[in-house]
Amino acid sequence: AIDPKFEENRDVAEQHEGHRVWGPVDEPEQLGIHGTHVAVDFDICIADGACLEDCPVDVFEWTDTLDHPESEIKADPAKEEQCIDCMLCVDVCPVDAIDVDPG
Ligand code: SF4
Ligand code: F3S
Ligand code: ZN
Repeated sequence: AIDPKFEENRDVAEQHEGHRVWGPVDEPEQLGIHGTHVAVDFDICIADGACLEDCPVDVFEWTDTLDHPESEIKADPAKEEQCIDCMLCVDVCPVDAIDVDPG
């Protein structure tokens, strides 16, 4: 499961589509955690898609991650600023790849 304390335990490695990527990043095998308010651990995501289907405000978009061992697309929190903290995505992800921190 995603580490809920990733902000303490990781450093920002880069930016992607306007959000932070928390490292370590070593492409294509290791991709880190995308987003902060809505955070998706790309190294855990298996592209189940429930988060994209269920988010009421369409926070997530697919992004290509060719040659990643778990899946070659990931749910990117492209519009994390739109999140209304309903926690549906956290509940439906079968591999607990998502952390939402209403902060
Ligand atoms: Fe979407 Fe709700 Fe998840 Fe926020 S908590 S990203 S609104 S499903
Ligand atoms: Fe990935 Fe979980 Fe969404 S596996 S696609 S973050 S439901
Ligand atoms: Zn991203």
